[in-house]
This record gives sequence, structure tokens and C-alpha cells, in this order.
Amino acid sequence: MPDLILEHEEIVEQSTTRTYYTRFSLGQRYLHGVVMATFLGLALTGMVLRFSRSGWGSSFAGVVGGFGAILFFHKFCAVILSAAFLVHLGDVLHRGLIQRDKGTFWGPNSMVPNLKDLKDLYGHLRWFFWRGPQPKFEHFAYWEKFDYWAVFWGMGIIGFSGYIMWFSTLFAKVLPGSWLNIALLIHGEEALLAVWFIFAIHFFNTHLRPGSFPMDLVIFTGSENDAEMKEKRSGEYQRLAGADQLEARKTFAPTRWLKNFGRTMGAAVIVIGFVLLWLTVASFVKGQ
Ligand code: HEM
Repeated sequence: MPDLILEHEEIVEQSTTRTYYTRFSLGQRYLHGVVMATFLGLALTGMVLRFSRSGWGSSFAGVVGGFGAILFFHKFCAVILSAAFLVHLGDVLHRGLIQRDKGTFWGPNSMVPNLKDLKDLYGHLRWFFWRGPQPKFEHFAYWEKFDYWAVFWGMGIIGFSGYIMWFSTLFAKVLPGSWLNIALLIHGEEALLAVWFIFAIHFFNTHLRPGSFPMDLVIFTGSENDAEMKEKRSGEYQRLAGADQLEARKTFAPTRWLKNFGRTMGAAVIVIGFVLLWLTVASFVKGQ
């Protein structure tokens, strides 16, 4: 009960000092949660398969129940991640083609890169070297789009090659046998690239860069406050304010339990990611 009172007091206190705006819908946050959990499962099990001769790889497999069990968990996570990918693809196509929402494929809320992203990249590089002002970023900045597309295409390539190996007897009826070896090569190399990209670049971009350090909770809470929005996405803030659309984006301040949930999940994933990054780089360098 005292906790509930405190939580309520915190909401009142925060909502009087800060205004919160929605950035991600509940559906988007759930989907990201599923992608995050299954990618972590695939990365862990996949890297154990790839570096099976390393001490940490064989120990981990031993604890879980052997390499057969590792492969089972890998395929289990693969099916869920594939379903999440298809749900997202279906949602985008439904919004863009059936509901004819033009903003899906073009404009400030779209993930499709445009000329402004190129200008922002140039302006950002200048800003890094104190040669100009910070660009006014929109709903998705150029590096957020890059992260999205890297995962999107990576998912296609890793997923397709993974299914070729999983159903190798079926694919061997239509493909030359050497293609199965190529699929394993592509799968393994692209997976390593994806793991290093997510646990180094994506983590830095979202959590470790100045302004977000040590952790950006927005993907867990779904909202950010006016100060954060003005600092990180001044272009979007000004556009919405100018068109009188800020009011429609207003939402409640995130509750304390939601923020603590985000902090716990985020910290766990970041720590696991960094450990895996370290282990895989070390094993790669040693040629294991
Ligand atoms: C739809 C998604 C996926 C499917 C269907 C899938 C399927 C598979 C299968 C069947 C294998 C075993 C190959 C063998 O028998 O030797 C495998 C290995 C592996 N997977 Fe996946 N996988 C998927 C996604 C991922 C992801 C997202 C990662 C990591 C980011 C990953 C990393 C790996 C690695 C590193 C190996 C070992 C490759 C090697 O031995 O060189 N996989 N995967």
C-alpha cells in the first residue's frame, strides 16, 4: 500500500514538472521485447555452436545439456523471431498498402531514408568537430534508420540461410549440395556481424552515447519527456508544436515499476551482450 501511494505521488510530482509524449506504442514495445529476447537467445546459442571448440562454448553447452539442446533452443528462438518479423512486415504492409497511410513509406515518421538523413549525417559529422550546430533530428534519426535496416536485411539473410540448413534434405532436392555449405558460411559470418553490430554499435547508439547514458528507457516506457525530446529530436518537437499536434502525443509519466522493469531488463541485456561481445572477439582473434 505505501508503495502504491509513493508511486501515485511520483506520478503527480513528475507530471507537474515534466510533460511526457508517446514515442512507441504498446504493440511496438512488445514486439521489440520479443525480438530482443529471441535475438539474445539466438546469439547465445549460435555463438556456442560457432565457437564450440572454445572453453566457454563447450562449458556453456555442458551446462545446458549438450550441443543437441543448444540447437533445440536455437531453433525454438528462431521460430518465434521469424513470427515476430512476419508480424512486423504484415503490419507495415497493411498500414502502407491497405490503409494507404502514405507516412509509412515516406515522410518524417517513416523508416525509409531520405535526403534529410544525408544532410543530417553531414551536419552531425561537422558538429562532432565543432564546425556547426547539431542537426534537428526527426522522429527517426539517420542512425536509427541504419540500425533498423541492418537488422531487417540481416534477419532476411540469416533467417533464410538458417532455414536452408534446418530443412537441408528438402532444399538439397532443388539446390546443389555445395549451396548448403555456402548457407552455413553465410549464416555463421552474417550472425557474427549481427552480434557484434547489435552489442557494440546499437548499444552505443541507443544507450551509451551522451544524452542517453547509461540507459535509454524509452523502448520500455514508450514515452519521453519534453526536455529529452527537445534535446534529441528538436526537429520533430518543433514540427509538432508548429502544427498544434503536440497535445495529441501527450501521455502519463511512466510509473516507477515500469522504469525499474526497464532498468533491470536493459541492464541484464547490456551485460550479457558485452560479455558475449568480449568472448566472441577473443575467440575470433585466437582462431577458435
Ligand atoms: C530464423 C532464424 C534462424 C534460423 C532458422 C537458424 C537456424 C540455424 C541452424 C539450423 C543452425 C545449425 C547449422 C548446423 O547444423 O550446423 C544454425 C547455426 C548457427 N546460427 Fe542460426 N538460425 C537463425 C538465426 C540466427 C541468429 C539471429 C543468429 C545470431 C545472431 C544465429 C547464429 C548462428 C550461428 C553462429 C550458428 C553456427 C554457425 C557455424 O557453425 O558456423 N542464427 N542456425
